[in-house]
Amino acid sequence: MSTTPTTSSTAGAARSAQSQDTTTVDRLPVSIPSLAERKRRGEPLVMVTCYDFPSARIVEEAGVDLVLVGDTAAMTVLGYDSTVPVTVDELLVLVKAVRRGMKRPLLVGDLPFGSYEVSNEQAIATAQRFVKEGGCDAIKLEGGGVMIERARSIAATGIPVVGHVGLTPQTATALGGFKAQARTAERAQQVIADAVALQEAGCCLLVFEAIPAPVAEVAMARLQIPVIGIGAGASTDGQVLVWHDLLGLYEWGSPRFVKRYAELRPQILRALDSYAADVRARRFPSAEYTYSIDPAELAELNALLAEADGQSGPAEASAADGQSPAAGAAGSP
Ligand code: KIV
Repeated sequence: MSTTPTTSSTAGAARSAQSQDTTTVDRLPVSIPSLAERKRRGEPLVMVTCYDFPSARIVEEAGVDLVLVGDTAAMTVLGYDSTVPVTVDELLVLVKAVRRGMKRPLLVGDLPFGSYEVSNEQAIATAQRFVKEGGCDAIKLEGGGVMIERARSIAATGIPVVGHVGLTPQTATALGGFKAQARTAERAQQVIADAVALQEAGCCLLVFEAIPAPVAEVAMARLQIPVIGIGAGASTDGQVLVWHDLLGLYEWGSPRFVKRYAELRPQILRALDSYAADVRARRFPSAEYTYSIDPAELAELNALLAEADGQSGPAEASAADGQSPAAGAAGSP
């Protein structure tokens, strides 16, 4: 049985209230039903990860359809070795910044490792934080098996759920590391079964990560909900890439499935080198980057200071001791 979600959701309702200043049909917020409609029409869906306010402004302007505040933030933004250590509180800071930066794309928040596996109650409580505090339209969780029940229980409360199968980085160790999945018939069958079960549990969307293109194609034939791929070939309804991979912000290489659309790291380095050179050579700030003051005001300031200095013996004394009056004031009780 397919349980493609209907239009109403608590998150969606909160969101349309936030987005009343959108003026054209094209700028209307992306909704779950509109994604299903786009799938029906065969229109590819564009998703990126995003972790901060200025990037969210750019994503909105670029007309991206879906934004994931992924737990990849653990590695891309927070510098952890894997996605495992990141906490709900850490991710929520990023989710809120992204929410403040954009209105139109559908905002998906990733439930971090340890925040939903223990029980349906734990999963619902965490999902509600992402919607209520973070302003997410949907949440994403990783894996099949018992996670199907977690997905079902969250979806039953009206929160749209995105499932994630194939390479699931939170449990990469159990999968043998960060490598392509579903490369044997048996493993592929399991991944497809999980995908179908997540759909039946009420997921509104799926992510396929790092599985062979032909396996994704077989799975697609069994799914009615939109599927976003990352390293899953071209048959999925859309694609997602991680911000730092897409823009070339790392000094190290990317996985096979990443296409880099820019090399921003060398550009940022060049900009910082120029800035540092200008500061060291006293070329920056030049006159165009400084504030002016009316010469008459400046003359008056000098006169006022001279008068005050003439009256204040202690300030003169401390200046004579090599101590600035300001330092003296800060040190006084
Ligand atoms: O956390 C993340 O960024 C993800 C994407 C790789 C899909 O799950």
